Amino acid sequence: MIEIAPSILSADFAYLGDAIQTVEPETSWIHVDVMDGHFVPNLTIGAPVVASLRRHTKSHLDCHLMITDPWDYLADFAKAGADSVSFHFEVGRTLELIRMAHDLGMKAGMAVNPDAKFDDYSTYIAKLDLLLIMSVFPGFAGQAFIPDVLESLRRAKEIIEESGSNTILQIDGGISLETIGASCAAGAQVFVAGSAVFGQPDPSGAIRELKRAANLALEGSQ
Ligand code: DX5
Ligand code: ZN
Repeated sequence: MIEIAPSILSADFAYLGDAIQTVEPETSWIHVDVMDGHFVPNLTIGAPVVASLRRHTKSHLDCHLMITDPWDYLADFAKAGADSVSFHFEVGRTLELIRMAHDLGMKAGMAVNPDAKFDDYSTYIAKLDLLLIMSVFPGFAGQAFIPDVLESLRRAKEIIEESGSNTILQIDGGISLETIGASCAAGAQVFVAGSAVFGQPDPSGAIRELKRAANLALEGSQ
C-alpha cells in the first residue's frame, strides 16, 4: 500500500473544497493539520472545518491533532465526520485515547515527534490503526526532513510484522521527491505531503510523481 495524504495546510484555506477536488483522482486520503497554539506554536483549524470538508468528499479525512487536550475534542471530530484521529504520544493518556477513538467509530492514530524515544512508545504500536512518525518538529509546513527518524520507521515495521498487526505506518514532514524513496524503503506506507503537493502548480501531477518515486524505491529495496 502506498498512499499520498496531501496536507491542506499548504492549500489556500479560502478554496479548500476546490483543493480537495483537484487531488481526488490521485488519492483517497486528505490530511488535516489541527494546531492549538499550545502543543505547537501555530494555530490552524478544527472540527467545524472537518464538518465542511465532509460535505464535499468521501476521502479518508485523516486528522492530525497537534493539540494538548485531544480527549476534550475527539467527540467533536467524530461528529464532524473524521475517519481517523492521530493524537500525539507526547500528551499522554494513550490507551484511553485509543479506546475513545474506537468507541467513537474512528481509526486511532498516534503521532510521535522526531525526538520521541522508540522504546518509550513501541508498546503502543500494535494497538494502533495508524502510527504517524514526524520527520519534522510539528507546527509548520515546508521544513527540512530529519533523516534520523528512518530508523524508527524500520523498527516500527519490524514490530508490526512480528505482531501481525495491521497498523499503517505514516510519515509526515519534509516529504518530497528527494525524501520519499528512503521513507518508503524504510517501511512508510502513507506519506503526508504539504508543500510537495499543494505548494506545487499541478498538485495531482505532483502526487503522481511522488507515487512513482516511492514505487521505484520499493522495487529497489526488494
Ligand atoms: C507539520 C504538519 C505537516 C505539514 C507537512 O506540523 O504536521 O503535516 O503540513 O508539510 P510539508 O510536507 O511541507 O513538510
Ligand atoms: Zn500533519
